[in-house]
Amino acid sequence: MAEGSVVIVLGIETSCDETAVGIVEDRLTLRANVIASQVDLHAPYGGVVPEVAARAHLQQLLPTIDHALVEAGVGISDVDAIAVTHGPGLIGALLVGVAAAKGLALAHDLPLIGVNHLRAHVEVAQLEHGDLEFPLAALVVSGGHTSIVAADAEGGFRQLGATIDDAAGEAFDKIARFMGLGYPGGPEIDRLARSGNPKAFHFPRAMAKNPGYDVSLSGLKTAVVRELRRLEAAGIEPNLADVAASFQEAIVDVQVDKTLAAAKDQGLERLVMAGGVAANTRLRSMMAERCEQVGVQLTVPSIPLCTDNGAMVAAAGSNLFAAGRTSALDLAVDPGLPLAG
Ligand code: KG4
Ligand code: ZN
Repeated sequence: MAEGSVVIVLGIETSCDETAVGIVEDRLTLRANVIASQVDLHAPYGGVVPEVAARAHLQQLLPTIDHALVEAGVGISDVDAIAVTHGPGLIGALLVGVAAAKGLALAHDLPLIGVNHLRAHVEVAQLEHGDLEFPLAALVVSGGHTSIVAADAEGGFRQLGATIDDAAGEAFDKIARFMGLGYPGGPEIDRLARSGNPKAFHFPRAMAKNPGYDVSLSGLKTAVVRELRRLEAAGIEPNLADVAASFQEAIVDVQVDKTLAAAKDQGLERLVMAGGVAANTRLRSMMAERCEQVGVQLTVPSIPLCTDNGAMVAAAGSNLFAAGRTSALDLAVDPGLPLAG
């Protein structure tokens, strides 16, 4: 610990398409957050190509680590532990981060800490809002996940519900592609929806009335595609802003309803919303309004900490390190890593 008594954790994130490294001091202070985005590499395909992602991580990770150390103004000798996402995510992409983290830990005789990507999306909130108060509910919505989560008073996480088909971000990206918009599609739909009427089309809210907290978005996706094809066949030029706004309203409605139902049933009065889709303007505003109505205290990280980043891994890793929960050097990657534990 070259920097006096502070504890510095470096976090590596390579579970999907962002090569990201964050550095956190004493669990709550962000020192660096560097992201080498691969968006341009995947854009021609309209989605993440796993092999392309793994190769780009391999090329970009070491320079990104160096960049983060410079941004934090520390050397590797000041770092106290190496945290890394070991799941869930794309196997090849995860392997690059975990192999690099093991190499660093071994070379510099540092503890290694395996981090769950979903937990990290939630725990990053502590960097902007201070220590999270437990118990709480969480909604993690991203390109790979729609997860409704409960954390108990001791901070133990458990999944209450999830998508049974497409993750929210995946549905945004697929519909955007069908509409001829750019990639990633979420921000494009968000932008277009601002000038549209969310009531112009009534798209289905699947499973809204079902018990439980799982959600399904494939029926909604099909309904949007069918409507666009129907209009085209009838020679009617669709108002794409109206389609985007109505589709977005349906997705957001489902996420908000299911999350607040879960929070209410579990008696949880605090909610953290995170993940790339938590950047969505309408999701942020509807969730804030509805939480206010039912007396749930909502915490949402700023947008750079909502999308995949290294700071979240460093924050979650700092918590595990403080609790003495380090990993062995044979830490395995787990593409389907469960949330519990
Ligand atoms: O968390 P994230 O950066 O990566 C994954 O773990 O997947 O989330 C990326 C996803 C993409 O599907 C993207 O379209 C979506 O988040 N997204 C949005 C918005 N910004 C990003 N979706 C809706 N509205 C947005 N403003
Ligand atoms: Zn993510």
